[in-house]
Amino acid sequence: MKKIIIAIDGYSSSGKSTMARDLARRIGYVYVDSGAMYRAVTLYAIRHGIADTDSGVDTETLVRSLPEIGISFTPAGADGTQHTLLNGEDVEKEIRDMKVSSLVSPVAVIPEVRHRLTAIQQEYGRDKGIVMDGRDIGTTVFPDAEMKVFVNASAEERARRRVKELTEKGEKVTYEEVLENIKERDHIDTTRKESPLRKADDAVLLDNDNMTIPQQMDWLLRLYEDRSR
Ligand code: DC
Repeated sequence: MKKIIIAIDGYSSSGKSTMARDLARRIGYVYVDSGAMYRAVTLYAIRHGIADTDSGVDTETLVRSLPEIGISFTPAGADGTQHTLLNGEDVEKEIRDMKVSSLVSPVAVIPEVRHRLTAIQQEYGRDKGIVMDGRDIGTTVFPDAEMKVFVNASAEERARRRVKELTEKGEKVTYEEVLENIKERDHIDTTRKESPLRKADDAVLLDNDNMTIPQQMDWLLRLYEDRSR
């Protein structure tokens, strides 16, 4: 079997990160959560007063600060989970909160931010044997990936999953605010000029509204076996 690049793109909270991480662990590949990288840049911007919910994002200052933003990951633990590091600090929990979620899409529209993160992501894929999930992995980061999956689920189903996930972590959120955030991010992600979220022509569509996690894994493993032959 040859080593390949697996690109998993899709809407926010479509379950693509869990599926990409589990797949990487099953087949012994490296997993990279590209959304976590955009979230870490956003957290940096919030902490340095460059982004806030009232005034939005100060693009010029953020672009100037990019060389000072170091993003890396801890090695995967036994369950496949990795933690995101911002200049060496573990920020895994903080990058998932609602404040970061509400500012990450405006940060992710900035071309300089995208170029910098795309270059780091391409470097991760140099030796193949990688599963990366995001919005533009099959279209921009790895247009030649041997396996591309585009994941979709309804906004309502995604909001239900996200509320469950945040509530389990102890965050107090309502279904309505989460649904609104998801719809807003869908809109920004699909309509931005630079690398908008869209299905690559050669990506396989996975509609997972009515699929269990084991069913999705079987589906992915079959596709992987086919593409790596
Ligand atoms: O997958 P996620 O929800 O953690 O991603 C957070 C945000 O980052 C998402 O709203 C859009 C942006 N993103 C992106 O623009 N390109 C990627 N490859 C990954 C994420």
